Amino acid sequence: MKVLERNTTRRWALMGVAATALAWAARPLWKSASAQNLPALVAARVGQVPTEPTDAAWAQAVPASIMMLPQTVALPRVKEAGAKNLTVRALYDAQRMAVLIEWPDVHQDADLGTVMQYRDGVAVMLPEDPSKGTPPITMGQGGNGVVIYHWKSDWQFGRLKDVDEAYPNMYADWYQFSGVEAGQMAEASDYLTKGRKEYLTAAAAGNHLADPQVQEKVGPVQKMRSEGFGTLEPHKTQDGAGKGAYQDGAWHILVSLPREQEKFTIREGAPLPVAFAAWDGARNERDGQKAYSLWTQASLGQPAAATPTPAGAGGGSPLAILGAVAGIIVVGAAAVLGFRALRGRRSGGG
Ligand code: HEM
Repeated sequence: MKVLERNTTRRWALMGVAATALAWAARPLWKSASAQNLPALVAARVGQVPTEPTDAAWAQAVPASIMMLPQTVALPRVKEAGAKNLTVRALYDAQRMAVLIEWPDVHQDADLGTVMQYRDGVAVMLPEDPSKGTPPITMGQGGNGVVIYHWKSDWQFGRLKDVDEAYPNMYADWYQFSGVEAGQMAEASDYLTKGRKEYLTAAAAGNHLADPQVQEKVGPVQKMRSEGFGTLEPHKTQDGAGKGAYQDGAWHILVSLPREQEKFTIREGAPLPVAFAAWDGARNERDGQKAYSLWTQASLGQPAAATPTPAGAGGGSPLAILGAVAGIIVVGAAAVLGFRALRGRRSGGG
């Protein structure tokens, strides 16, 4: 075999081995939360979970520090997100599990009076049915969905705040179908109580984001479900509860949920994958433009044993996958090159 061909093949083979070694070294990125030493969230038992984010009972819970990532997977992406890190505590009683989520935020964004205002928000995500394995972090996938409890600042603090609160000097002539007198300012809820709902089109179409009555009934924490981003919808059972407090430049949000979920029960000592997302309204974050965490392992009472997670479920880094694929391709190419050269030599070329 000519010197040049031999060296080329050797170089290719070495590069292939190097790429595969790189992918092998990046293996932890594919591993489950517990194998990656991501923080475990262990809930402490109490007689009754608190309903106030400032309740002294939260001192009984061991805080976990949750690293947040800017959402760069789906368009529109964010290069940098407002929330960088969450401090999370968990408590539970016989019926419910409650988490307290805290993070610094220099600006309280809680009313959406104008179209250019966005809310601060935080969400807790868990698998809809853990027996199917941990769903992808990208809000689940077809056949393996997630449940999301989403606290929205405006549903607590700004539910009735809209345009006339943002522009107090605005003048009202007549909102014909609102049910209020001419010259009076109409609120969204007027259409639902005194007027004609069909003229509050989004609410009439069942959009909870536009319906103050639903928001009042549900409270600041809305339960949602999805089987991958783009499929998010309100859950048919609204069983979340919660309350937020903005103090000293930080949010303190309590989100509580029943241990009895539709498809499983959160049991003591059992591993429960949880993930978080946070929105900073002052940075125009909304929908997919947010900070999110990888899956972390929660459990009630004591740390759960590590659970194997199906490949790709732990939010494996695209870089590691790319590395592995590149490694295999390069090794393959080197093998083909070497084989061809060998065949050439046997048939008397070299
Ligand atoms: C890489 C991971 C993620 C990607 C690519 C992603 C992407 C998206 C996209 C494209 C939307 C808008 C479309 C829709 O409504 O479905 C969205 C909305 C939403 N996502 Fe995610 N997401 C991710 C992780 C998460 C996590 C971990 C949670 C919860 C802990 C979450 C909770 C939500 C919520 C509550 C909304 C609606 C927000 C709003 O009303 O402003 N997402 N996400």
